[in-house]
Amino acid sequence: MIKGKNLKKRFFLKKTTLNNNVIEAVKGINIEIKKGQITGLLGLNGAGKTTSIRMLSGELLPDEGTVFENNSPIEKNLTDFREKVNVISGTERGLFWHLTAYDNLTYFARLYGINKNTYKIRIPNLLKLVGLEKASNQRVETFSKGMKQRLQFARGLINNPDYIFFDEPTIGLDVDIATEMRQVIADLAHNNKKGILLTTHYLKEAAELCDNIYFLRKGEITSKESSAELSTKAKVSEKVLISFNKVVNQDLIKLLKESDGVLDVKKESPLSLSVFGQSNLIKKVIANDRLSDYSVEEMKKEDITLEDFLFTQITK
Ligand SMILES: Nc1ncnc2c1ncn2[C@@H]1O[C@H](COP(=O)(O)OP(=O)(O)O)[C@@H](O)[C@H]1O
Ligand SMILES: [Mg+2]
Repeated sequence: MIKGKNLKKRFFLKKTTLNNNVIEAVKGINIEIKKGQITGLLGLNGAGKTTSIRMLSGELLPDEGTVFENNSPIEKNLTDFREKVNVISGTERGLFWHLTAYDNLTYFARLYGINKNTYKIRIPNLLKLVGLEKASNQRVETFSKGMKQRLQFARGLINNPDYIFFDEPTIGLDVDIATEMRQVIADLAHNNKKGILLTTHYLKEAAELCDNIYFLRKGEITSKESSAELSTKAKVSEKVLISFNKVVNQDLIKLLKESDGVLDVKKESPLSLSVFGQSNLIKKVIANDRLSDYSVEEMKKEDITLEDFLFTQITK
């Protein structure tokens, strides 16, 4: 198990016209990553997810606090620890575009000092795992976005790590590829017993994949939930985006908020509202005569986002 205890990190920026040149990126978080489980770290952009990963994976020294592996501080044997972990991020960095998939993986295998007999077996296995066996001898520059991301996954597994940090692994991927990648992640935890930390700002992804989820907000962990708790909350409310024929006023918002089955209302644009609650009841409210000043142009069910979750009353 990896345990981060009271981890803090601040960054100093060059002096600017602004007084505040210190960024408190992570403000004393406690987090546990267990083998065989997927732990989620959920937060908006700038919440401190990547900084947390950098500390927990031994890349960045915390200003305060300690990272432990099996109760021993990782700084005692940082080289060993780094061999047991790897980071896979959703960006396309870290691949050599002019090399083939196979040669990329060979390069990283050598970097880890893995012997030839081992990597000759491991690389084809990894390429198979991520569905790139046919593209093995193709240069990365000819790859689609999805293929590059699969190769990133293989690269992150090259040292056969015990712990894998996925930093927004499905960001910008097509739905189908993201689904495939999620299956690989689930498989790594549940069948291969890897300890996984996954950061994401997709609430649905976290609820679907993670055993436990930490909510990170402005460098602080605001709550920890099991995925069961999270999906129950996410299930009790649905979101319906409604566009009206004219500019929405406070009276309409108030009226909707006070209606049965409505938990919260959020203005999305001058003409549209997100209404949270039970969609069948929301539809009834909308059909009500009292809204007759307004007519509904469009109504569609949408997925609840992390922002909705954090900044509305839907879970209260
Ligand atoms: N190397 C750095 N130097 C200065 N500021 C940084 C650095 N890395 C991150 N930050 C700042 O720390 C905060 C948290 O960033 P980050 O950990 O990347 O968040 P997230 O991954 O959740 O988007 C942000 O305000 C970001 O601008
Ligand atoms: Mg990040």
